[in-house]
Amino acid sequence: MNDSHSKPLKDQNALVTGSSSGIGAAIARKLAQHGAAVCVNYRSSADCADDVVRSIVAEGGHAFAAGADVSDESAVQGLFSECVARFGRLDIVVANAGIQRDAPLEQMTLEQWRAVIDVNLTGYFLSAREALRLFAKQEINPALSRAAGKIIFISSVHELIPWAGHANYAAAKGGIMQLTKSMAQEVASRRIRVNAIAPGAIRTDINRQAWEGPDALSKLLKLIPYNRIGEVDDVAEAAAWLASDAADYVVGTTLFVDGGMVLYPGFASGG
Ligand code: BGC
Repeated sequence: MNDSHSKPLKDQNALVTGSSSGIGAAIARKLAQHGAAVCVNYRSSADCADDVVRSIVAEGGHAFAAGADVSDESAVQGLFSECVARFGRLDIVVANAGIQRDAPLEQMTLEQWRAVIDVNLTGYFLSAREALRLFAKQEINPALSRAAGKIIFISSVHELIPWAGHANYAAAKGGIMQLTKSMAQEVASRRIRVNAIAPGAIRTDINRQAWEGPDALSKLLKLIPYNRIGEVDDVAEAAAWLASDAADYVVGTTLFVDGGMVLYPGFASGG
């Protein structure tokens, strides 16, 4: 295989927000394996971000870590400036940083509501707006990619599936769905591709209580027709593909990587 096949993101530069752990870390590593240099963004876990950078460098890739809270406008602007200073240009931005602050609606505090909306929705807007401002200034370089830039939002099956006890999270993810489509429609003519990935239940720390232990796992598997929990690489593979020219005609869509979780598993029999 020549390099454009084995390393379809060769010489491209990527920023992955919230990539010191979980799905973000896997995406950072996968993009690097496919040839991209990666900025590993973190908010508070500098040590974990450094570990991700080290693992990328150990495999012969290029990466650096940069701290920034994605809900803070000037911090996001600083993060993009740092990427431009280090890389010269950015080709791929993955908005991934996300949190959960679960509570029944009656007890949900404004603080819990705001924390989730600020990071999971406003953070995506801020990252996407800076990406757009940068991509709009950059020349298309066909040797790198047919697009001027690619934005990937990591959404969730909960952009579609309502989630009792997690209304702040579901509201943010529903917002991401329309942010994806509206932004894609707005910027496609400038050859900027905006898409989203909606992961289902992926084995990470954020949902540990949903899969740790046989009882929790068997309950969870009832929601997944494919009958296995997702792994971070399932999502990372999809991100690498969406970022590549193999997906050049994929614009404004959400790719569900969920083992069929959105297929109304309760209807597999009856109905
Ligand atoms: C949430 C997880 C949850 C999964 C499926 C994700 O977006 O972060 O906690 O397990 O959706 O419900």
